[in-house]
Amino acid sequence: MRAFERSLERLNQEYLDLYLIHWPVKEHFQDTWKAMERLYEEGVIKSIGVSNFHVHHLQKLFTKANVKPVINQIEYHPHLTQQEVKTFCDKEDIQMEAWSPLKRGRLFEDPTITQIAERHGKSPAQVILRWDVQNHVITIPKSVTPSRIRDNADIFDFNLSEDEMDQINRMNQNDRTGMNPNEFD
Ligand SMILES: NC(=O)c1ccc[n+]([C@@H]2O[C@H](COP(=O)([O-])OP(=O)(O)OC[C@H]3O[C@@H](n4cnc5c(N)ncnc54)[C@H](OP(=O)(O)O)[C@@H]3O)[C@@H](O)[C@H]2O)c1
Repeated sequence: MRAFERSLERLNQEYLDLYLIHWPVKEHFQDTWKAMERLYEEGVIKSIGVSNFHVHHLQKLFTKANVKPVINQIEYHPHLTQQEVKTFCDKEDIQMEAWSPLKRGRLFEDPTITQIAERHGKSPAQVILRWDVQNHVITIPKSVTPSRIRDNADIFDFNLSEDEMDQINRMNQNDRTGMNPNEFD
């Protein structure tokens, strides 16, 4: 509750649109969710969600939750497609959101991505972000470079074919840039 008050003060706002539990610290996340539900019921947070939750974390959350998370923000890119979490979230109507969607710049030389990019006259980053959108995953690429920020938003004038989507879906290597949520202390 105190962390929320501090965030609100720092943001200089009266309410927040969306607030997430950053990691599923196993001794704490159920109590944290109870506090977030209270803030949601008070109307000072309009939507509450989670981040880095695997299926078993979500199932444990459900045993005590009154409000379902609207979002699960997880590491998600062509080398980490998280099919089990995605299938579960789709079934439970929890919106998936991709962090490090560009694998922090480590996918731009991949031949599958570059060939598709050339075919559409788009950049590798744009192809990856379009793949997110067509997989119904909200994507939050980060850039400090104005031209890249513009390019990353310019992904609504082309479509990846079913075959191109399949090719990218098959690139999975279960390769993380960040921590595995099961090992997060
Ligand atoms: N929930 C969580 O636990 C969690 C964990 C990690 C990250 N996140 C969030 O996820 C968001 C993105 O993650 P991220 O920054 O780790 O990785 P990312 O978005 O996959 O990659 C960022 C890197 O890609 C470069 N880049 C961006 N757009 C590009 C483009 N069009 N062409 C070439 N290079 C491009 C950026 O360079 P420049 O900036 O130099 O342009 C930067 O080096 C951030 O908002 C972060 O806070 C959340």
